[in-house]
Amino acid sequence: MEEELIGIKNAALSFVLEAEDLKSLEETKLQFLGKSGKLTLALKEVTKLPAEKRPAFGVLANEVKQTIEEAIEDKIKSLSAVKKTTLLEKIDVTNPGVKPPLGHLHLVTQAIEEIQSIFEKIGFVRVRYPEVEWDWYAFEALNFPPNHPARDDWETFFVDEKPHPKYGPVLLTPQTSSGQIREMTTNKPPIKMLNIAKCYRRQSDISHVPMFHQFEGLAVNTDLSISNLKGVLDYFVKAYFGKERQSRIRPYHFEFTEPSFEVDVSCGACNGKGCKLCKEGWLEMGGAGMVHPNVLKNCEIDPSVYNGFAFGWGVERVLMMKDGIKLDDIRTIYSDRMEFLEQF
Ligand code: PHE
Repeated sequence: MEEELIGIKNAALSFVLEAEDLKSLEETKLQFLGKSGKLTLALKEVTKLPAEKRPAFGVLANEVKQTIEEAIEDKIKSLSAVKKTTLLEKIDVTNPGVKPPLGHLHLVTQAIEEIQSIFEKIGFVRVRYPEVEWDWYAFEALNFPPNHPARDDWETFFVDEKPHPKYGPVLLTPQTSSGQIREMTTNKPPIKMLNIAKCYRRQSDISHVPMFHQFEGLAVNTDLSISNLKGVLDYFVKAYFGKERQSRIRPYHFEFTEPSFEVDVSCGACNGKGCKLCKEGWLEMGGAGMVHPNVLKNCEIDPSVYNGFAFGWGVERVLMMKDGIKLDDIRTIYSDRMEFLEQF
């Protein structure tokens, strides 16, 4: 009986030794240790032995079983190690890798950074003021009459909050010009600020979004003139759109500037000659003007000593004009359409 067990062990070990893959190891395991495996069947023979021989047989049988099991386990380990090294050997490290997709800043953020750095070079300091503001900063101090249409809730978002006893209702800033008042009530001249911020208006259609961005420049000093304003406009237009581009100002009306202007940029497509893209060679960019004396007074700055100029344009607008982007729907800028966003 003992010889039979030793025979089974040797047979099993030689199978394990020769096994070349996991599958044949599985088969060996089944053949010897399975339900009707050779060792399992041999163990059943124990009942045929006289009682005094059974314990020794049991001990030997367990040893054989353990030896076969361990041999199989060891072989499994060495087979998978071999497999790993062959896999490693097959990796060609000189092959170009697979690049993970990498995002980038949104096109509006990129434009804001560029605009900021252009103005920083001529001494305008970027500031940030509240987006949730009181009427006084957004309208009243900017010389808006009490019944101006921008003050009603067709264009401005009002916040459901108790009005301030002095500053009036709470609203979302519809223009960055509120930053002029914040600046002039916190700092005294000379002032050279650039306020780039979100603006909110009740509008949403193919050419309007309810949240957009403006950048607003304000300079206050003792003897500023329209020429200074024009110089800054020209500088920006050339730095942002290109050397060959020009700016022009046309008379316009804003409550908080006098005189007021609308600023145009020469069309890049026809170089100012006039084409399908533009109005006789010019593209409208936004507003500008000399700070109204009433606005200075509201901020306790003496208009007989100081004066200033201001300008405010839409970030989305200048960025679309620069890149010649023609969007059927401006809301695409704030959509999650990757095929659009990935281009910038
Ligand atoms: N705030 C004006 C607008 O939103 C633009 C402007 C800014 C005009 C500064 C004059 C001076 O249209």
